[in-house]
Amino acid sequence: MRVLVTAEALERRVAELAAEIDRDYARTDALLCIGVLKGSVFFMVDLLKKLTVPVDIDFFQTSSYGSSTTPGEVRIRKDVDIGVRGRDVLLIEDIVDTGHTLNTILGLLRFRGARSVKLCALLDKKAAREVEVPIAYRGFEIENLFVVGYGLDFDERYRNLPYIAVLEGEAAAAVPSPS
Ligand code: IMP
Ligand code: MG
Repeated sequence: MRVLVTAEALERRVAELAAEIDRDYARTDALLCIGVLKGSVFFMVDLLKKLTVPVDIDFFQTSSYGSSTTPGEVRIRKDVDIGVRGRDVLLIEDIVDTGHTLNTILGLLRFRGARSVKLCALLDKKAAREVEVPIAYRGFEIENLFVVGYGLDFDERYRNLPYIAVLEGEAAAAVPSPS
């Protein structure tokens, strides 16, 4: 395993993102922060602890339908509990890869009448993009590599690493296409 983003670099960048978000939403009554389970959890907790604007918190959980037959069809496995109509929503995600997950969720939030919807993603794997999604707050742009740690998993493992690492060798060869 090769460390790609250290814990120190993560902490610094998360603080910068929080400062930007604080500034942009200074006039918002209550920002609705929605994380996408499970990958966004570590990032979301660290980010939200650094915000001073009032926030409400909720979660989506998604998975893809048989991706070999219908690539990009996203299933909502857990919906949000809080109504989004008229709300300013900040969607928080660990990584944007093909973009299908976020594209689907952003569309759904707009359809339900959110007042505004912006995306905050820790990692941007730009070279893997199949559908364009606007990232308002982006932590790091990374190469098209499979990464783990700080919420990101390989087969549910490694989420609790305090840094972002690239899987190399045998483990990497066994990595399925992420979706
Ligand atoms: P999408 O392809 O942009 O829809 O990304 C879907 C999901 O795949 C992300 O939210 C992650 O949970 C997962 N994913 C994408 N790339 C990686 C990776 O490098 N490591 C771990 N999970 C990943
Ligand atoms: Mg995810």
